[in-house]
Amino acid sequence: MSLRLGDTAPDFTQESSEGPISFHKWLGDSWGVLFSHPADFTPVCTTELGLTAKLKDEFAKRNVKVIALSVDPVESHKKWINDINETQHTTVNFPIIADADRKVANLYDMIHPNASATATVRSLFVIDPKKVIRLIITYPASTGRNFDEVLRVIDSLQLTEYHSVATPGNWKNGDDVVIVPSLQDPEVLKQKFPKGFKTLRPYLRMTPQPNR
Ligand code: BEZ
Repeated sequence: MSLRLGDTAPDFTQESSEGPISFHKWLGDSWGVLFSHPADFTPVCTTELGLTAKLKDEFAKRNVKVIALSVDPVESHKKWINDINETQHTTVNFPIIADADRKVANLYDMIHPNASATATVRSLFVIDPKKVIRLIITYPASTGRNFDEVLRVIDSLQLTEYHSVATPGNWKNGDDVVIVPSLQDPEVLKQKFPKGFKTLRPYLRMTPQPNR
């Protein structure tokens, strides 16, 4: 059965470009991004992995560990990493799972047989520190992911997790946010939102982004 939001991210041990990884142990108390690539030495993936390496500080700021996956062996990953570093002018600074036996791809339902019998699609999972799946996105093999959007969703998830607010459509970091409807106690509202809030409707209360 395929994974859904709120499910526990399946644990696994698998080889990677940085040695064997026991996934839950490797995540520790961090948030995680696990994302798959159709195969090594493919053009779109090469750009995505270079981009991800350049976003190292952005992920670190959010306490997020990143791990990629491709269904090729470690030796192939290592050669491909040289290409990525050279062509994308960066240094890959996260592990790439070597999922040659497709153990992880099958666990996370990353192979969509009607798209390709063998290659993984572009799946991406955001996992919180309790190992709960908080975001699943699936892109076609020919479309590189938008990593600004991935960071934006992580910011939104962390605002909900730590500040009891949700983010409106097209929200960008710094825009006003909405107070989660479950929060009703006036004392708690005063304490959590010292900058105040506007009640447009009882269910629609806008407030400045609390962590800025
Ligand atoms: C790729 O880079 O993975 C890719 C490029 C074109 C079509 C399909 C996949």
